[in-house]
Amino acid sequence: MRDINQFTITEAVKASFKTAEGSRLKFLLEAFIDHLHDYTREVNLTHDEWIGVLNFLYDCGQISTPERHEFILLSDVLGFSALVDMINTRGGATEGSNLGPFYLDDAPRMALGGDLGRGRDGAVLLVQGQVRDTLGNPIPGAVIDTWQADAAGTYPIQEQASGQDKFDLRAIITANDKGEYWYTTVLPKPYTVPYDGPVGRLLRAGQRHSWRASHLHYIIRAEGYRAITTEMFFEATEYLDNDAVFGVRRSLVTKLETVKKTDTLPPTDKKPDAKCAFDFVLAPAG
Ligand code: BEZ
Ligand code: FE
Repeated sequence: MRDINQFTITEAVKASFKTAEGSRLKFLLEAFIDHLHDYTREVNLTHDEWIGVLNFLYDCGQISTPERHEFILLSDVLGFSALVDMINTRGGATEGSNLGPFYLDDAPRMALGGDLGRGRDGAVLLVQGQVRDTLGNPIPGAVIDTWQADAAGTYPIQEQASGQDKFDLRAIITANDKGEYWYTTVLPKPYTVPYDGPVGRLLRAGQRHSWRASHLHYIIRAEGYRAITTEMFFEATEYLDNDAVFGVRRSLVTKLETVKKTDTLPPTDKKPDAKCAFDFVLAPAG
């Protein structure tokens, strides 16, 4: 009979999995077991702490629905999502940032110069820029998929019960033959991540707030390029230094400028009050 103790158990657990030699699964599983066991030994985990963690995860499962994934939120507030975004950003490409829970993959199409805000309250913001490759060449016809909160910090998808259309404030725009895009929208406000569940309890236990810096979400796609999921933030706005989900990167912060009469602007359906510019850079696929 084998004699397992607190030091030999790690190798025994790893050996119990018959995963293919050299496989990614074997690599991921073994490293996970190593770190989990090392952590447990390092902190001398008690039974109460152990069951506390498992009950916390159980609560995350209980509150999750197809519209609310508490484990993703947990990953977000622990900086786990941000870390995965960071290590998967290709050199020279726009930095990745949170997808968040409010993406829908079938947003309506909108023409260049269209107004995403469609008469909503709030300052009208012109967003413009170019999609390029890592060598600086424009990517004609790149697809810009965008979604955002309104001027009160709410996503229409969260307010369907009060009659809001979940497709409001989201659109798919095709860049022109120079890779340029432009549209108007309402300037979004900061908002809180859901804090009425176990992740909210964790934030309160750590005396953390649940606010996100004001942002616009994007997925940029083009044939032959690796798609990027990212966010655009605005200089001198709140929570840039303590965004609840660690989504802000210096390179993703753009400057908001008041539109002046003398500005030369691209043609838009709605006259903008403010403008910002942001170029996206895609790395080749593969
Ligand atoms: C968002 O940016 O939409 C978001 C990200 C993480 C949690 C909740 C919302
Ligand atoms: Fe968001």
